[in-house]
Amino acid sequence: MKEQLSNIQQKALDEIKKAVDIKTVDDLKVRLLGKKGELTAILKQMGQLSAEERPVMGQLANQVRECIENDIARKKEQLKALETEIKLKKETVDVTLPGRKFEQGRRHPLNIVLDDLKEIFKGMGYSVVDGPEVEETKYVFDMLNTDEGHPARDPQDTFYITDKILLRTQTSSVQIRTMLKTKPPIAIISPGRVYRSDAVDATHSPIFHQCEGLVIDKGITFGDLKGTLEMFAKRLYGSDVKVRFRPHHFPYTEPSAEMDLQCFKCGGKGCSLCKGEGWIEMLGSGVVHPQVLINCDIDPEEYSGFAFGIGLERIAMMRYEIDDMRLLYENDLRFLKQF
Ligand code: DAH
Repeated sequence: MKEQLSNIQQKALDEIKKAVDIKTVDDLKVRLLGKKGELTAILKQMGQLSAEERPVMGQLANQVRECIENDIARKKEQLKALETEIKLKKETVDVTLPGRKFEQGRRHPLNIVLDDLKEIFKGMGYSVVDGPEVEETKYVFDMLNTDEGHPARDPQDTFYITDKILLRTQTSSVQIRTMLKTKPPIAIISPGRVYRSDAVDATHSPIFHQCEGLVIDKGITFGDLKGTLEMFAKRLYGSDVKVRFRPHHFPYTEPSAEMDLQCFKCGGKGCSLCKGEGWIEMLGSGVVHPQVLINCDIDPEEYSGFAFGIGLERIAMMRYEIDDMRLLYENDLRFLKQF
């Protein structure tokens, strides 16, 4: 029995030594010292021993158990320390690695211009409204006093989807939608995309952006139009800019006018930016035609108003002296990073 005990001890110490992880050690502990373990099996045979031998063997068995237990505990400590060391090594942060750079985006020049426009008009009490790009001809033309046969409706210049549905050629359609929905007083702007069947070149694109404006109230005159749009130009370009109004024709306004800005590059003398004119065309405008009010069920005897349409590309190109419209759409970072 003495020999059996020393064999068990030797074997146990060997196996513990070879163990490479904590689970193996735990399993060993059960196998060696557990209820069905080898050592217990031997202790069960103690009954067969004589009265003198029993305490001697008992003591020996306890020594073996203690020795194995201690060895297991020591081994576990050792393995735990090793695991921690490995984990720490794996988790080391190399502080000498270069940092990851976050690319910061910028506003597109068209959005800068649009944000400025919105700020200016909101400051004057206007709200910003939206309208559909796929539109009905009645809103884009008919109700804007633009009858069948008018050159603006020419299929050569317009993307028709059906006879009565098209991609809007102007944001002026939102005037009608607004007047049908809201009773005066009205003061809105409506920026958005418009479509015309134009070939792409330095000053044309089949998709571009406008911002419509509409004011309807009692006693609105051409004077309000002039004052408002001049104020707008000064806010946008600085208080010393000069504007002029030139007579024009639009079917939905009477009288109609285009507003020009004195060229801020040459001060009106004539240069490449203003093509020698001294003035740069900025927007179309006019006093809302009585027929348009009637079409929207607004009494022209009671109410009057003015409207305007601004080309956003034109404003951006003037402001940043961009000579080719295509640059605005090509998403070339070398261009966009400049704003
Ligand atoms: N819709 C015109 C265009 O596309 C711009 C315009 C002119 C809008 C006069 C208006 C206006 O509201 O009154 O060129």
